[in-house]
Amino acid sequence: MSKPKRCVLAYSGGLDTSVSIRWLQERLGYEVITCTADIGEAKNIEEVTDRALRTGAVAAYSVDARRLFVEEFCFPSLAASAMYEGAYPLATALARPLIAKILVDVARDEGAEAIAHGCTGKGNDQVRFDVATAALAPELEVVAPVRDWEMGRPQEIEFARAHGIEVPVTQESPYSVDANIWGRSIEAGPLEDPWQEPTPDVFAWTVDPHAAPEEGLLISLGFEHGIPVTLDGERLTGDVLVTRLNALAGAHGIGRIDHVENRLVGIKSREIYEAPAAIVLHTAHTALETLTLGRDVFHLKRRLGDEWARLVYDGLWFGQLRSALAAFVAVTQEPVSGEVKLRLWRGTVSVAGRRAPGSLYREELATYDRRQDTFDHSAARGFIELFGLPLRTQARIQGALEDSVPLSLERKVKRR
Ligand code: ARG
Repeated sequence: MSKPKRCVLAYSGGLDTSVSIRWLQERLGYEVITCTADIGEAKNIEEVTDRALRTGAVAAYSVDARRLFVEEFCFPSLAASAMYEGAYPLATALARPLIAKILVDVARDEGAEAIAHGCTGKGNDQVRFDVATAALAPELEVVAPVRDWEMGRPQEIEFARAHGIEVPVTQESPYSVDANIWGRSIEAGPLEDPWQEPTPDVFAWTVDPHAAPEEGLLISLGFEHGIPVTLDGERLTGDVLVTRLNALAGAHGIGRIDHVENRLVGIKSREIYEAPAAIVLHTAHTALETLTLGRDVFHLKRRLGDEWARLVYDGLWFGQLRSALAAFVAVTQEPVSGEVKLRLWRGTVSVAGRRAPGSLYREELATYDRRQDTFDHSAARGFIELFGLPLRTQARIQGALEDSVPLSLERKVKRR
């Protein structure tokens, strides 16, 4: 008898992936091994792996990947200031390449020829899984049952009943939710109307800013080379720091994002995110960069941060551009060590103070107090002379461009 072909399925324990186990077995003839990664979405992993075995998996792997996820995926993206379309800290997008890597490793150890995931054909996640797997293990096939079968939710429930698969008891929610330690995303249902304000049931990690404590909270974050290492002076691992900060900032109503987003697959979708820790950390990290980076590096880095965000969004974590940008970011983060004080108050986070051993801010240069001032005022004249030289030359030879600005202001004058 020939060895059955094997497939490693990313298994969440939900209806889609439970039905996928049987579908992969019965329709495609795979022996199914499931793999469940804990990246901080707060589910009972023991229960999930037991359910996988009961549903027909021959083996059910689980891994606690929280710390690795934060320190190897989220923090480097924080250091890169990666915020997709200036709004989305990329929680879901960052988790996909990690999960793909975990699946690929298990597939190799188990001699599987395919990996499988439960993504639909309309989102970004299918692209991310497929492309990450292609980059890591081009020899592996990727199967996406939910994308391929033509079942809606009622047919899936029917299929589950007919095959004796337990239908996970989740209370009926109109939303599609994905969550990990870096953030939570909520879409669909009434949110599909971008004019519709989200109702309170959308939010799970953040309190209504109006209900947050009036007195607010002052916290401090310490960074080493662009990476957060302390919260209120206490040294913490990345996963613990982010978990605590999610709770602290969420309790002050911080981290709600409402964004109409351009998906890679060509559509716009309205997304609500909750990302308390990510928002606070980005605010703090940028504050420290304003102190420690030179102007040209700071400016270029903002632009390359957008590139980083786009490539992560597009599932290209394991591509050459990310490695190249990471090398650039690493050099820039050398002096980004220090401390930032932040005021959390009713949905807002504001920088209350910052200090760094490598700070380029010099009081003796910035001060308006003449007695302490070391800035050479007389040097300004020559500097401006040369800086303005091209404009002066152009105006003399080709005429001033000032006429292109139509100034038709009514003037008033008083004379003595
Ligand atoms: N729009 C976000 C992204 O593409 C979140 C997707 C959430 N995924 C989900 N299956 N609900 O990264």
